[in-house]
Order: sequence, then C-alpha cells, then structure tokens
Amino acid sequence: MRAFVAVVVPILLGAVASGALASPVSVDEKVRNTLQLDQDLKRGKQLYGTYCSACHGVQALGSASKVIPSLAGQRRAYLVKQLADFKEKERENRTMHVVVSQRELSDEQAWADLTGYLNSLPRASFPQTGDGRGVELGEAIFQEQCASCHEEDGRGDDDGFIPSLRDQHYSYLVRQMRSIASWHRLNVEADLVRYLDSLDTEEATAVADYISRMRGATKNRDHMNPDGTVNN
Ligand code: HEC
Ligand code: HEC
Repeated sequence: MRAFVAVVVPILLGAVASGALASPVSVDEKVRNTLQLDQDLKRGKQLYGTYCSACHGVQALGSASKVIPSLAGQRRAYLVKQLADFKEKERENRTMHVVVSQRELSDEQAWADLTGYLNSLPRASFPQTGDGRGVELGEAIFQEQCASCHEEDGRGDDDGFIPSLRDQHYSYLVRQMRSIASWHRLNVEADLVRYLDSLDTEEATAVADYISRMRGATKNRDHMNPDGTVNN
C-alpha cells in the first residue's frame, strides 16, 4: 500500500499542477490545430445531439432560465477557443469541464466538427431581454466602451475571436460580464476585465439589456468570411 501511495501521489500532484498551470500556449496550439482541420458537419450534428443538446437545446439556442448560452451561429474561432479554455481550465465552469473531458470530445477533430456545425445554425430570434428600463444608458456605454471591439452592432470581429453578442440571453450576458470582471475567465485581455469591472450593477444590467436586443442579420454582411467564421 505504501509503495502504491509513493508512486501514485506524485503522479497525481503532477497532473494537478500541470492542470492548474496550463499555459495559454497550449490553448493557442489547440485552437490553431483545430482551425486547420476540415469540418465534418454531419458528425458535428451527431456529436451535438449526443453530448450537448440536453443542456444547450436541440437548436442550440440555450436556456435563459438555466443561464445556458445560445451557441447557434456564434463565430467559430471563438467557440473553438472556449472549448480549449474549458479543457485547459482557463475558463471556470465545472459543468463544461466535465463535458470536454469525455473521451470522444477530447480530440481536436471533434471540436472542429462541433464548432463547424454550431456556426452553421440559424441564430436565436427570441432571446431573453432585460426589463427595458436601462436601454438608453446601456446603448451609451456600449457604443463608448464596447463597440471598439465588438463593433457597433455587436457582431464581433472578422477574425472570429471576439464573439458576436447578438441573439444572446440577457441572464447569460449579465453572468458573463460579472464572471469576466472577477477573473473567472483567465485567458482574456486585462483590458476587458478592467472595462467590465468598472461597471456598477445598474450599468452592467443596462448594457446587457441593450445587447440582448441586438437581433438578426447585421447591417454589415460584406465582412463575412468565405469559411463562414462571421456567421451572424
Ligand atoms: C450539463 C449541461 C451542459 C452540457 C451537456 C453542455 N454544456 Fe456547454 N455550457 C453549459 C453552461 C452552463 C455554460 C455556461 C458556462 C459559464 O457560465 O461560464 C456552457 C457554455 C458553453 C460554451 C461557451 C459559450 C460562450 O458564449 O462563451 C460553449 C462553447 C459550450 N458550452 C459548448 C458546448 C458543447 C459543444 C457541448 C457538447 C459537446 C456542451 N457545451 C455541453 C452547460 C452545458
Ligand atoms: C479590448 C476589446 C474588448 C472590449 C473593449 C470589450 N470586449 Fe467583450 N470580449 C472581448 C473578447 C476578446 C471576448 C472573448 C473572451 C474570451 O475569449 O474568452 C469578449 C467577451 C465578452 C463577453 C462574453 C460573451 C460570451 O458569449 O460568453 C461579453 C458578455 C462581453 N465581452 C461584453 C462586453 C461589454 C459589455 C463590453 C463593454 C463594457 C466589452 N465586452 C468590451 C473583447 C472586448
């Protein structure tokens, strides 16, 4: 028994340490590799049905009451990065840590297929909104502090790493703004954390309410990439 402990404990400690200290370099590498793979949308659909739809919904539109994000039509590079961040524990969420640790979901080909499928889906048309009282304040803050990255219509950036915020549930937006501000997502720019941390509750809910009303196709569809990474 003692020999067993002597051998196993250091291995376990090693595993914990490497998990806790996973560097973004390994995330970057996984993201780069995944984006180079061909996507099998049929397999993506099948994997989605088996492993994801119970929570994110059959059409990947999420659930406002359970604070589960809509994934349909989200930019592909962003989705891949989130899976890699969950996998490397750069983003906190025990539920998603369990999801990405399953064997069939551990390889980059599965991520390529899943994200290709999700990106191809039509976006939510009726996400949850806030109570509407702070929309004007929310618009002013968004256009001043957020539009430089997310674009004025919330469509995100053309490389695909800045997410589209359109067609997303209010409850999820509020929770993520708080989570990012308190460093629950480690692999993000310090600037983003500072911006979100500077908002008080009234301001944060106002911005989330304004964002949750950004719907449908964007004004600027000519920025869409041929591979569909900008699928609004
Ligand atoms: C048991 C429920 C559950 C299952 C199953 C599940 N998810 Fe999630 N997922 C969540 C929750 C809850 C969140 C929000 C996490 C947070 O608040 O940070 C989430 C977040 C995500 C995000 C981040 C989205 C964003 O906008 O940042 C992605 C991407 C994602 N899930 C993909 C998947 C995929 C792909 C599968 C299947 C392989 C899957 N999820 C299965 C519950 C689930
Ligand atoms: C410096 C560029 C930048 C600015 C400014 C910025 N964002 Fe972001 N935002 C990002 C990036 C990049 C991500 C994705 C982070 C990641 O990869 O996990 C993000 C993610 C988010 C998310 C999470 C989306 C999801 O699906 O989980 C929300 C919500 C958000 N930003 C809201 C805002 C709001 C509100 C503001 C203004 C107060 C803002 N952002 C300003 C770059 C920016």
